[in-house]
Amino acid sequence: MIEATTERELRHAVGKWRAAGERIGFVPTMGALHAGHLSLVELARKHASRVVTSVFVNPMQFGAGEDFTRYPRTPEADAAALAAAGCDLLFVPAVDVLYPPGSSTRVRVEEPSRGLEGDCRPGHFEGVATVVAALFGLVRPEVAVFGEKDAQQLAVVRALARDLHFGIDIVAAPTVRESDGLAMSSRNVYLSPDERRAAPALYQGLEAARAAIAAGERSSAAVTAIVRARVAAEPGLELEYAALVAADSFRPLERLAGEVVLPVAARAGTTRLIDNLRLRVD
Ligand code: PAJ
Repeated sequence: MIEATTERELRHAVGKWRAAGERIGFVPTMGALHAGHLSLVELARKHASRVVTSVFVNPMQFGAGEDFTRYPRTPEADAAALAAAGCDLLFVPAVDVLYPPGSSTRVRVEEPSRGLEGDCRPGHFEGVATVVAALFGLVRPEVAVFGEKDAQQLAVVRALARDLHFGIDIVAAPTVRESDGLAMSSRNVYLSPDERRAAPALYQGLEAARAAIAAGERSSAAVTAIVRARVAAEPGLELEYAALVAADSFRPLERLAGEVVLPVAARAGTTRLIDNLRLRVD
């Protein structure tokens, strides 16, 4: 596996592959890699002949008072895991490689950024869209893989790639979970033992919602009430939101129809957990 830190090193390696007619797959991450991230690399391998992974803790997508400085950083373990997962190139840019001096462009994707995470974390999706656009420009992949775990981010990235005509296929990877259902996240290391025990209630709320929908429930209010009730029964968790939205636009739905997402966010102590259920309702 090649490790690149500069634009020149990255372009040199990827340029050679492109000239040889290879198909480039790309997996952007913020590191502290877990099995969820590695599943994205494995999926990228199926869609491309070369896989590039970036590790960049993007300051622009963290709000004031969020966890940018204490965000987990495990560079040696990340490199070893990526090499073992079949990544061909690891790109680890410094902040001034991603955002060179004088850089002042911001990318704002309007519709799917509205509401939910967009409301809880003002400026977050602008930071995500800006860094993803910059990384797309640097790597110029044919295909890029993003996790369904971050469902609203996935909708934002799909809109970005479409609206700015990047010509990049966006592939979605299913959420990888711990054995008790908790969605894997780099931030799970923040959880105390008690918080960790409480955390799966969020997933259990989603599963209860899934069962109700399978039994024919189509009212968003009724479905979100089921999630609320399950999370309220767990004193260690505080629900921030549960909503039903259209998968592409993230527009709220009163009744379930078509491709829908049920995104949820909760706090366990000071740690935010997000998760979601995605399903097709006919
Ligand atoms: P990060 O949180 O490191 O996640 C990188 C990618 O891994 C994202 O596409 C995310 O959805 C996916 N992912 C995380 N946990 C997952 C899980 N349990 N199962 C499957 N996929 C999972 O998301 C970001 O970084 C950043 O916002 C980024 C897109 C890199 C821009 O800075």
